[in-house]
Amino acid sequence: MRFSLATAALLAGPALAAPPAPRHDDKDVGLNALAQRAGKLWFGTAADIPGTDETTDAAYLKILENPANFGEITPANAMKFMYTEPEQNVFNYTGGDYVLNLAERHGQRVRCHNLVWASQLSDFVNNGNWTKESLTAVMRNHIFHVVQHFGRRCYSWDVVNEALNGDGTFSSSIWYDTIGEDYFYLAFQYAQEALAEIHANDVKLYYNDYGIENPGTKADAVHNLVKELRKRDIRIDGIGLESHFEVGFTPSLQDQLSTKQGYIALGLDVAITELDVRFTQAPYYDAAGEKQQAQDYYTSVSSCIEAGPKCIGITVWDFDDKYSWVPYTFAGQGGADIYNATLQAKPAYYAIADALQGKACSVC
Ligand code: XIL
Repeated sequence: MRFSLATAALLAGPALAAPPAPRHDDKDVGLNALAQRAGKLWFGTAADIPGTDETTDAAYLKILENPANFGEITPANAMKFMYTEPEQNVFNYTGGDYVLNLAERHGQRVRCHNLVWASQLSDFVNNGNWTKESLTAVMRNHIFHVVQHFGRRCYSWDVVNEALNGDGTFSSSIWYDTIGEDYFYLAFQYAQEALAEIHANDVKLYYNDYGIENPGTKADAVHNLVKELRKRDIRIDGIGLESHFEVGFTPSLQDQLSTKQGYIALGLDVAITELDVRFTQAPYYDAAGEKQQAQDYYTSVSSCIEAGPKCIGITVWDFDDKYSWVPYTFAGQGGADIYNATLQAKPAYYAIADALQGKACSVC
């Protein structure tokens, strides 16, 4: 008597009777799904919404709003000072609420970005005639209002953004130039106090910067800032490693891993917060270049996987070349993202999928 395959499976018992695994390729599974399987909180992306072309681009939104792709969204601009407090003590939360509403509809988390930075400040801050005391009061007022408005909807805040020069000294900004280095510690203190007042102590406080992804003077300076905060009994929970890299010049796996391990050894979480890998000149889409770019993405994502659960997640600074910030900021540069300008996944996408699964890179 001949059995059909199905009957044979039934007779063989439950192990063989299990339904076949779904035939997804990595793209269908989605990078966030793979990241969460690997123990990360998310694979995320920045999104420059609302008020931009992408806000109504159905093809873009279809990718953005799929929680299998992204488990986290960082507002690329909407929560920055110039948008949230355009005039002194006049607050506007429309953009930030928009991002939070969109993310929450799809079960996505939000890294709130950012409270205190040299850039994208309101005119009233840039043009004011401040003393140390009066500008400190402006900073405190901004932090309290914004932090308390968004509250526990934020997974974390980038409390201070990009405070350091390459040599580890504080960079010039209206904050540093007027208040001195105390501004850095006070910003974290105020964020902590604002959260405590609304019983939201679980919202994490991050320092976010670039050039701190590999060993060196700038990374050492971050360690010193953390130690100084601790000395003053002020909370910091994590370091955001922006990870804006250039094709072929991404720090090595060993360098990225050991630097993450250094912050983790201080008792901190780390996150890759703004990953992109730009071509410094055209062509952006030839096979050899895309292969190198895939390798660069693979290296960075692998460093977070190998660092273990204290590297909580990876966020790309927008996922597509259609809306990338790169060409606007670095003249003649581009092609930095994991989807191209027509929203097709590039080799870098598949390299990340491999890294998240602990596989060798199939496209590098
Ligand atoms: C960028 C945005 O993507 C642009 O749209 C904006 O014009 C300038 O800022 N580091 C950061 C981000 O922390 O806030 C920056 O975002 C990119 C560099």
